[in-house]
Amino acid sequence: MLKLQFPEGVQAASFLRLFWQRRPLLMRRALPDFRCPIGPDELAGLACEPEVESRMVLEHGTQPWELRHGPFAEDDFTALPDSHWTLLVQDVDKHLPEVARLLDAFRFLPDWRVDDIMISYAADQGSVGPHLDQYDVFLIQAQGRRRWQIDTRPQDGIPLRDDTELKILSRFEPEQEWVLEPGDLLYLPPGVAHWGMAEGPCVTCSVGYRAPALRELLGAWGEHLLERTPGDAHFRDPSAAPQTFSAEITATTLDAVDATLAQLLHVEIPERRRWFGRFATEVKPHLAPEPPDQALAPTDFREALRSRGSLHRHPYSRAAFAAIEPDRLTLFMNGREFDLPELSRGFVKAVAHERELHFGYLAEWLEQPDCLQVLTQLYNAGFLVFPNE
Ligand code: SIN
Ligand code: CO
Repeated sequence: MLKLQFPEGVQAASFLRLFWQRRPLLMRRALPDFRCPIGPDELAGLACEPEVESRMVLEHGTQPWELRHGPFAEDDFTALPDSHWTLLVQDVDKHLPEVARLLDAFRFLPDWRVDDIMISYAADQGSVGPHLDQYDVFLIQAQGRRRWQIDTRPQDGIPLRDDTELKILSRFEPEQEWVLEPGDLLYLPPGVAHWGMAEGPCVTCSVGYRAPALRELLGAWGEHLLERTPGDAHFRDPSAAPQTFSAEITATTLDAVDATLAQLLHVEIPERRRWFGRFATEVKPHLAPEPPDQALAPTDFREALRSRGSLHRHPYSRAAFAAIEPDRLTLFMNGREFDLPELSRGFVKAVAHERELHFGYLAEWLEQPDCLQVLTQLYNAGFLVFPNE
């Protein structure tokens, strides 16, 4: 399993305490055994697939910092200049399972925070310009060399360029710079201005950690509140009294509105936490697993699993678990929840953590009807699949 080598004197705990969400960290030879699992041609091939999100940035295109959106055609690649362009492909971890293995090196961080692995190929001098992201990102140099310049000072007053749709800073004064070689890594917290320029052709893998925008969190919570409120329930005022001025909204009414809103907003803690587990494991709409052609009954599913030998997490699936209620564990996958007794802890952890589940390990658990039931549901939803399906 790929292991992250922190610089001397830094471990996962001190990284989280001193750098995570706070300060950049350059990690030379952080992944010395890392071999880039994808080359430029395969990346270009992915960028031609309709379900794959990809972009190209050309510094000297038909406009300054030209942005082109995929999917691309083969011809789009033959007409490119020798330098100053970058191809960026999102969610490569979901399209190529061998790329997802790179995430093993980062499992000291919660899975639910992982957004994707983006891979970029840049021709010599290729870059996407100086900018900042609202993501924590581990920039892994996979092939070739890239010069990274950063500025940690607040960028609030600095306008964006107005001649490109890319969010590029109009001024950038680097504080620090390094040339990264294969296996080197640069961690950047959100909001740090950075500019990475290819020195010769190069490939960079960005492991992106996304935290929900507070507005997004609130919007999703608001939707949950709406869903749990019956559509035919209305504000009621049975204690209405005769009014001296009919235009007045009386103190009695204002109190009743306060009480109604407080009641609508009040949600018990377990319900709130379950909602968050579902929210945190939701998949991107264009990357949702499809159910299998044929749903199986639990006993048939167990037999199929015995003969196939193993079950794989669909590469699009997102999973987590949490202890929310006493003596229970809740497994979350792709925005759904499954409740199991605390005694099934080993089962819940394995299903939430492992990308591959072997019958040999699962057999004992599948003797328990509720574990069998949950695993069958996950299979029938398409969240777990048999190999080569
Ligand atoms: C790149 O991989 O070319 C750009 C990554 C970034 O700057 O966030
Ligand atoms: Co960036």
